[in-house]
Amino acid sequence: MIGRINHIGVATPSIAESLKMYADLYGAADVTHIGALPEQGVSVAFVNLPNGQIELIEPYGDASPIVAFLEKNPKGGQHHLCFEVDDIIEARDALRAKGATILGTGEPRIGAHGVPVIFVHPKNSGGVLVELMLKPPAGH
Ligand code: CO
Repeated sequence: MIGRINHIGVATPSIAESLKMYADLYGAADVTHIGALPEQGVSVAFVNLPNGQIELIEPYGDASPIVAFLEKNPKGGQHHLCFEVDDIIEARDALRAKGATILGTGEPRIGAHGVPVIFVHPKNSGGVLVELMLKPPAGH
């Protein structure tokens, strides 16, 4: 059973320009610095909102997994939804038992929040890429 929505992933050709847009247009100026996640092929920054975050992701390196997405959506667009779960392995195994496809090796990897994450193929979720992340410790 999934828990709260942790963040909405949005791909962008320029995190810096997206941060400026959220601040100038929407007044959302509580943002994190831009950090690179070379192993995942993305740079990320977060817009902090009262009930969650927007995760802005920009390609990092030539083998970035979001290059193809941005070729189809050159101005960027909504990329994934992320839900918290209490046990990432249990969630993965339950999804697999129901026939869902976990992307990559299926082994959780450490995501932008420092906790394990997995991704579920969009074909299993009405065309939406779903990220599941281990519920972060309180205060994070
Ligand atoms: Co995410």
